[in-house]
Amino acid sequence: MSRPAALSRLVSALPLIAPSMLKCDFANLHREVELLESSGAQLLHLDVMDGHFVPNLSYGPPVIKALRAVTSLPFDAHLMISDPARYLDDYLDAGCNLITVHIEAVPQPARLLRQIRDGGASPGLALNPGTPVESILPFLDECDLVLVMSVEPGFGGQKFMPASLDKVRRLAPLVGKDRLLSIDGGVDLDTISEASAAGASQFVVGSAIFDTSDYRQAIENLHLAAVGAAVSANSE
Ligand code: DX5
Ligand code: ZN
Repeated sequence: MSRPAALSRLVSALPLIAPSMLKCDFANLHREVELLESSGAQLLHLDVMDGHFVPNLSYGPPVIKALRAVTSLPFDAHLMISDPARYLDDYLDAGCNLITVHIEAVPQPARLLRQIRDGGASPGLALNPGTPVESILPFLDECDLVLVMSVEPGFGGQKFMPASLDKVRRLAPLVGKDRLLSIDGGVDLDTISEASAAGASQFVVGSAIFDTSDYRQAIENLHLAAVGAAVSANSE
């Protein structure tokens, strides 16, 4: 599947539950991917941290490339790194389908977003809890995905920040239904309904999947809650 084709397939299957591979069992990465795939995951969210843009380290292109060889699930790379332009080719080469960079790391991202698209992937822009929506508006046309952080980036297992819902509400009509509006951090069975009612279409989930013993059940419950909340919000 070509990388832009991954976006159209994802958009036709909203809402999406994107397991965050930050909370998985790293000693058994291959098994985790197989388990997620057989549990109905529609894509994998790959959190890349550099110990500089965020105070934590995770993994990078070699690990992503190794995973690319064992699954055809689309890869949604979330680059929490300084100077992502410097490493873009490595992430393209590793087989990422969506590549999201932070507006705080690249305040003038137009060129980089175009390079991501020219490289065959879908470009995305993420914003931290303290960053206003206005900062990304001039670049929305260049994006296939917008990611609203609902925790400070860097760690899984944090508490969902309700203030992120206002951002989602503002962005939903601007992003529309042909692109992805993602929310990331503290999304669980309690918070997913509000996020879905606010207009998010992709839900990044770490703890609420990986801290359970049944990934399939967790993904299914989250998906049902997201669908239910979106349906009632649209019928109001
Ligand atoms: C945080 C990451 C998230 C996070 C999600 O910087 O971007 O993807 O790991 O994990 P939970 O769902 O536990 O907040
Ligand atoms: Zn993330």
